[in-house]
Amino acid sequence: MPQPKLNVCLIGYKFMGKAHSQAWRTAGRFFDLDAQPVLKVVCGRDAAALADFAERWKWERSTIDWQQAVRDDDVDVVDISAPGHVHCEIGVAAAQAGKHVFCEKPLAFTVKESKEMLSAAREAGVKHMVNFNYRRYPAVALAKQMIDGGELGEIRHIRCTYLQDWLVDPQFPMNWRLRPETAGSGAHGDLGAHSIDLARFLVGEISDVVGMKKTFITERPAEGTSSGLTATAGEGTEQVGVDDCSVFLAKFSGGALGTFEATRMAPGRKNYNRFEINGSQGSLVWCFERLNELEYYSTADPGTARGFRTILATEGEHPYAGSWWPPGHMLGYEHGFANAVSDLVQCIVHDQPCQPDFQDGAQCVAVLEAVDQSIEAGHWAGVEMIA
Ligand SMILES: NC(=O)c1ccc[n+]([C@@H]2O[C@H](COP(=O)([O-])OP(=O)(O)OC[C@H]3O[C@@H](n4cnc5c(N)ncnc54)[C@H](O)[C@@H]3O)[C@@H](O)[C@H]2O)c1
Repeated sequence: MPQPKLNVCLIGYKFMGKAHSQAWRTAGRFFDLDAQPVLKVVCGRDAAALADFAERWKWERSTIDWQQAVRDDDVDVVDISAPGHVHCEIGVAAAQAGKHVFCEKPLAFTVKESKEMLSAAREAGVKHMVNFNYRRYPAVALAKQMIDGGELGEIRHIRCTYLQDWLVDPQFPMNWRLRPETAGSGAHGDLGAHSIDLARFLVGEISDVVGMKKTFITERPAEGTSSGLTATAGEGTEQVGVDDCSVFLAKFSGGALGTFEATRMAPGRKNYNRFEINGSQGSLVWCFERLNELEYYSTADPGTARGFRTILATEGEHPYAGSWWPPGHMLGYEHGFANAVSDLVQCIVHDQPCQPDFQDGAQCVAVLEAVDQSIEAGHWAGVEMIA
């Protein structure tokens, strides 16, 4: 029998557009999926650049009319890889058209918008998933298995740092990531959202937060062109409207304490997304810059042999790893996206809930928003729990 098809509509064709195209193209080749993703239509705003992209990545067609594309009969899944200010509008329209929705992070700018997306998806009965790709690296998924298996005992601390340096140069020009109307916030929502999701995934719900944010460089050269984390300058200058750095403390419902730091101002740190978790019986450390490795310390080891060991999470029995290469043949950034897409396809075909879904996405936004409330109020803020 021919394998069923799952037709994908992608919106956005730059940084995440490439990462998602690669994932949709690869997933069915490495994973035994029960439907084959088809790269049906890609949407953006510049017709000529879009046509080039479609040709290079072999999308069947391209259009600058996403409103029509998300309603097209031959589309099953809408993949939102555009900036945050359009997530809500596209997500709601896609769900109302009966399409499953895969959305980049952060889900939206506000809890209100996030809830609109969640309600639209629930009412339409479609699958919904947020691309928190860091959950899906084998070493991180292994950390989750170890914590759930009780190997760390009672969790007491999580320390999350997400450090980049692409804004250290004051001559780096403006782009959508530096404007509140298109990005919502700066490092806080962009990087902090990933750390919050990892913390919720690994440790549980965050109940209370207190934080601070800072913009170190308040004026930059105006935008010429930009894509992903690169940009060229245009004429004049523009005021920066978002934070360069956010730092906050967190209390977890289960009793653990957390610290979070997200910055684009850490020279030498490129994509230093790191967590350290300490429990009553051990510790785990992971950093994206060495993404295949998980450091593990166990108090159960004999005293003479105690110390952090490095687990190379590339064995066949490690989550996701067995679908790729032989042990020791490293995975990279793009594999997290293909792992996510393969899970999404299986959830759609087998009518299973997706993780992380729009409720997770909304809960992450609730933490981001509570940090902002704490900054405004100058004291701790409770985090709204999204039902
Ligand atoms: N999961 C991750 O690791 C990760 C990494 C980077 C970015 N992101 C997220 O992905 C999203 C996109 O970021 P990016 O780095 O790909 O940005 P980008 O600037 O590289 O690309 C943005 C794309 O969106 C398109 N676009 C912008 N406005 C649009 C509109 N109104 N209608 C249709 N298309 C529009 C642009 O044409 C462009 O193709 C953001 O939500 C960002 O936070 C996630």
